[in-house]
Amino acid sequence: MCGIVGYVGRERCVEVLMEGLRHLEYRGYDSAGLALAVPGADEVEQVKRVGPLKELAEAVSRHNGHFAQVRTGVGHTRWATHGRPTEANAHPHFGGYAGDGANGTVAVVHNGIVENHVELKEELRGRGHTFRSETDTEVIAHLLAERVEAGEPLREALTNTLRRLQGSFAVAAVSVREPEKVVAARHQSPLVVGLGDGENFLASAVQALLGETHRFLFVENGEVVEITDSSARIYTMDGEPVERETFKVDWDPEAVELGGYEDYMLKEIHEQPAALQATLSGRLDADGVVDLSEVVLDLASVERIVVVACGTAYHAGLLGKHAIEKYARIPVEVAVASEYRYADPIGDEKTLVIAISQSGETSDTLAAVQTAREFGGRVLAVTNTQGSLITREADAVLLTKTGPEIAVASTKTFLAQTTILYLVALELARLRGALSKGEALEIGRALRRAPEKVEETLDLLYGRVEEAVELFEEARCALFLGRGASHAAALEGALKLKEISYIPAEGYPAGEMKHGPIALVDERCPVISILGEGLQREKTLSNVEETVARGANVIAVAHKGDTDAGRIARVTLPVPETPEILGALVASVPLQLLAYHVAKDRGLNVDKPRNLAKSVTVE
Ligand code: M6R
Repeated sequence: MCGIVGYVGRERCVEVLMEGLRHLEYRGYDSAGLALAVPGADEVEQVKRVGPLKELAEAVSRHNGHFAQVRTGVGHTRWATHGRPTEANAHPHFGGYAGDGANGTVAVVHNGIVENHVELKEELRGRGHTFRSETDTEVIAHLLAERVEAGEPLREALTNTLRRLQGSFAVAAVSVREPEKVVAARHQSPLVVGLGDGENFLASAVQALLGETHRFLFVENGEVVEITDSSARIYTMDGEPVERETFKVDWDPEAVELGGYEDYMLKEIHEQPAALQATLSGRLDADGVVDLSEVVLDLASVERIVVVACGTAYHAGLLGKHAIEKYARIPVEVAVASEYRYADPIGDEKTLVIAISQSGETSDTLAAVQTAREFGGRVLAVTNTQGSLITREADAVLLTKTGPEIAVASTKTFLAQTTILYLVALELARLRGALSKGEALEIGRALRRAPEKVEETLDLLYGRVEEAVELFEEARCALFLGRGASHAAALEGALKLKEISYIPAEGYPAGEMKHGPIALVDERCPVISILGEGLQREKTLSNVEETVARGANVIAVAHKGDTDAGRIARVTLPVPETPEILGALVASVPLQLLAYHVAKDRGLNVDKPRNLAKSVTVE
């Protein structure tokens, strides 16, 4: 959470910083700010505003070109951890200020948490410092300023400041004493350097800089960076220079634009057929043969699998478990990463740990990977983000290749993560001979149809979801029911609805509903049932009938032309008939659209739901 950017180069500094922040707003939108180092000035300039970035943009525009000459600066977009979203708590934070109204000689922006900030504040107060914010970050600014004022060069001062900090950080700083540079460092939180010609960049994620460069240096834990207009250098904490290879990122800058859609979420839902095509490309051929040779791990010796993930990625893990256990007959545990990291888990070197993370930055998932390392587990990362932290922690990586996902609510990456796990299931089944060759090829060919079937689902749903939205006008909660893989889809449907529409929603196994949640049912608690196939469909139908008998308004996700669904449901959201492996994938699409339209109907910002951020880089 929180996004930081930095720039040194030409007189377009403010423009570059604002554009970078625009692409990092998914990381937090409680407030935003800039700190600008102007040569010859006595203090660092600043602009900050509470609320989304447009507030800062308006404030910047009111400076009427005053910043046109600025070449060096840093920016921040905040997801509040310590201190409410107020202007005082907005970054940048300053140190070395002369009086009440003054800014200060140094400014910092920070993503992470300084865990020992209370002690440090006390210590600094003891030396006469006064604080203007409730944030943990402000101590960094004061410690840094003390050292700069004592004559230490900015990079050395930052390095020495970092030695005092416990917790996590990506921090960037500017100073009027050295206005031609930005210094930065990271520990746990992400930071990349973007390389330009006559200008260089820093950011929390590559997405921020794709309009500027495709050449990056990834900064590792405990490293310090110094950028000027002509150089970008990385150092160890001991001041030793580090050689780092340039990493080329092939994402198209257009991919981070709206492209005519009203919101990123809607765009990303509609990108799903193409996204799945990219996920499968080169990994599954027309005959149904899987090729995962990119996974440089001995998968044949795997005896047990643990999936660690959070949120939507966890739900993808649940779908993966169904497929792996069914096709490869390997036991799979799916663990919420924030629990697993402290669970003292059991495992050995024959345990494959599959860590799923769209961003590749989620701190709980990264910590769960470390935990698995302690028992010797081998780690396969499934991520959407090239060069992200998880790609560097894992033994092998499978990229979902969907292009950037901007909306906070995950959609296309959920389908892609699930698809990757299905490929892994088929590969493991092949290695263990758990399926006959003919069966494996048939399922592989079925999986190849995922893009086409999702496309067909979107076509079928055109204009249909709005009907279901009416049932939510007075809704005070919602129940999502399904069995087997449809239960995982139900959990994901409930998460989508609650995170963007703020309606309390539960995903439940349909058969378990009468052991408690059925008490919620009345005409103001719509029941969304994912009917699925075969015996599960029969059983789910009868569970749903039980809710109808208690006055529920039912929305059924069912095959088009399913007359039973038509009989019990107020609204049917049609999905095409598919091979079994694709059932939960296609059933997830109407649930995404339902959440989207319910939230839009309530006038909510679907891309930036309250209290959330796309990358959860704090515990
Ligand atoms: O980047 P990650 O996949 O690790 O993120 C995990 C969760 O924070 C994420 O899936 C979250 O639940 C989504 N916002 C849900 O739509």
